[in-house]
Amino acid sequence: MTAGRHAELAARHRKVMPSWLALYYEEPIALVDGDGVRVRDAEGREYLDFFGGILTTMSGYNVPEVVRAVQEQAARMLHTSTLYLIESQIELAEKIAGLAPIPDAKVFFTNSGTEANDAALMLACGFRRSNQVLAIRNSYHGRSHSAVAITGNRAWSPTSLSPFQVTYVHGGYRYRSPFGHLDDPAFIQACVDDLRDLLSVATAGDVAAMIAEPIQGVGGFVTPPDGFFAAMKEVLDENGILFISDEVQTGWGRTGEHFWGIEAHGVTPDIMTFAKGVGNGLAMGGVVARADIMDSMTANSISTFGGNPLATAGALANIDFILNHDLQTNALKVGNHLKSRIDHLADEFPIVGEVRGKGLMIGVELVRAGSREPHPGAAASVMEGAKRRGLLLGKGGLHGNVLRIAPLLVLNEHEADEGFDILADAIEDASREES
Ligand SMILES: Cc1ncc(COP(=O)(O)O)c(C=O)c1O
Repeated sequence: MTAGRHAELAARHRKVMPSWLALYYEEPIALVDGDGVRVRDAEGREYLDFFGGILTTMSGYNVPEVVRAVQEQAARMLHTSTLYLIESQIELAEKIAGLAPIPDAKVFFTNSGTEANDAALMLACGFRRSNQVLAIRNSYHGRSHSAVAITGNRAWSPTSLSPFQVTYVHGGYRYRSPFGHLDDPAFIQACVDDLRDLLSVATAGDVAAMIAEPIQGVGGFVTPPDGFFAAMKEVLDENGILFISDEVQTGWGRTGEHFWGIEAHGVTPDIMTFAKGVGNGLAMGGVVARADIMDSMTANSISTFGGNPLATAGALANIDFILNHDLQTNALKVGNHLKSRIDHLADEFPIVGEVRGKGLMIGVELVRAGSREPHPGAAASVMEGAKRRGLLLGKGGLHGNVLRIAPLLVLNEHEADEGFDILADAIEDASREES
């Protein structure tokens, strides 16, 4: 562990890697060791981690069961190809199909969330013989050409070229919605009425699918009222439009109340996509779909690395760990405890505009005191202040003004309190800078 290591790595990074590959912090850090809910950087500093990569290491660092499964597979063989039977891949597909709310489900594995959404959109568009897609304002679904095409966030949209005809509908961003002053039922009704109107005026009628994150991730943990997507789906069903739930951030119990984020809405999607936390740091993603949709593709398709033995062995061990330790219940209990403490920060500090989220997925939107004007400077200041004190946070929102708090699902209340105290101090500092 050498002083100056981070500066050296950052200089090398900037020289050979793209300028748009954003790094956190004025002085970026490299994380080299982890245990439980804590990580250590390349200069020997330890942090409580409330972001897990980007909700990616989900069950804890160095979970012995996951480490052992990966080591055993690596020691045996690193061959992969979907042209051969892979037992761990089949077992993982069986497990995920059993956990998913979609009846008669089939599973296709990819290496990332982007790829999973690409595959889901290709299936939906082929099944419906249409390239018209509905996406949600303020959404993020990945970095490829087709995923960017359904991303409703200017900060992550480098091109307007698109394989789809996309119509952006209202999501559940109450805080910044023109319908935000309405109560829940009236808010939902206004969004549903707008969806109906858009279908009439902005589409050619035969729309393939609507894709939505149950809680928007990059968008700043935007959390619609429960039942929102059920009301939207009634309109989709009337028009034969498929519903794709992007569970890349909300799956596997993170939201506490449910195993999948979409279950808060009492609705069954036709297709779901997953990635991030399922591999606890391994590259792993996929699509779950009704069998008739999954089997509808009219040409061959493979994924060379999708569902490889290393990633599937690790993911199987990880899902077993999540289920055996009931991490969903822990996310509910510790998440409620943490959120109830963070809720008070909105009363204490006028720069805290809104606290939202479910389970261990909590967003804190920062604004200029006495207004709703986004305050990205305050978010940057809180990020730096928390890091100085030994806490890693995430950031998001259209304007980069939302703190994203997504600790590892093994977090206990004592660790939640430790992180909360640091967060509160960092927000107090940022408030002082504001006044
Ligand atoms: C909701 C959602 N979908 C898809 C993606 C893309 O996943 P990946 O970065 O693994 O391609 C992300 C990544 O942040 C995401 O948050």
